[in-house]
Amino acid sequence: MTDVRSICAIGQRGQLGLGGHLPWEGNRGEEYVADVQRFFHITRGHVLVAGPKTIASVPRFAYDDRTIEVIRSGERPEDVIARFPGRVVFIGGGPPVWDVYAPFIRHWDITRLPYDGDADRWFKPDWLVAATHMRPSVDAR
Ligand SMILES: NC(=O)c1ccc[n+]([C@@H]2O[C@H](COP(=O)([O-])OP(=O)(O)OC[C@H]3O[C@@H](n4cnc5c(N)ncnc54)[C@H](OP(=O)(O)O)[C@@H]3O)[C@@H](O)[C@H]2O)c1
Repeated sequence: MTDVRSICAIGQRGQLGLGGHLPWEGNRGEEYVADVQRFFHITRGHVLVAGPKTIASVPRFAYDDRTIEVIRSGERPEDVIARFPGRVVFIGGGPPVWDVYAPFIRHWDITRLPYDGDADRWFKPDWLVAATHMRPSVDAR
């Protein structure tokens, strides 16, 4: 059994990304720094899979103590998840990835940061209630 999770940080209105980076990139404020540290703490020892742009922004040191893989749109989520039996797998985005993987995610870890500026990538609350392929009997009721 694979424990499929997700971790992300959003702005006050669901801002996720801007120009290929976090919208608050470089902000040295206490909450922002703590969020980055928490991300590395929570994912340590586990698997992080995400789209190519998100993985491109993961620093080299992060590969030392977690498994990190790029996922591509040609892969079935079931096949990707099946590569990591018994592991905790974090689905790291971006939005097209969460559109497809949301039904498989059992636990979301979302930090709301004080940021309220621009964004070109947004969190979709629908991901939290995406119909699950894992429990088809629920849909049948
Ligand atoms: N705030 C946060 O916590 C957070 C977290 C993650 C990302 N972000 C932000 O989001 C932005 C990056 O996200 P992005 O969406 O632009 O790029 P991305 O991370 O590369 O993710 C999207 C890409 O993933 C690939 N992909 C893999 N499996 C897929 C599937 N089953 N279905 C569809 N696509 C799949 C597709 O590329 P191919 O078609 O080429 O395979 C797709 O274009 C950045 O601004 C980043 O900072 C923020």
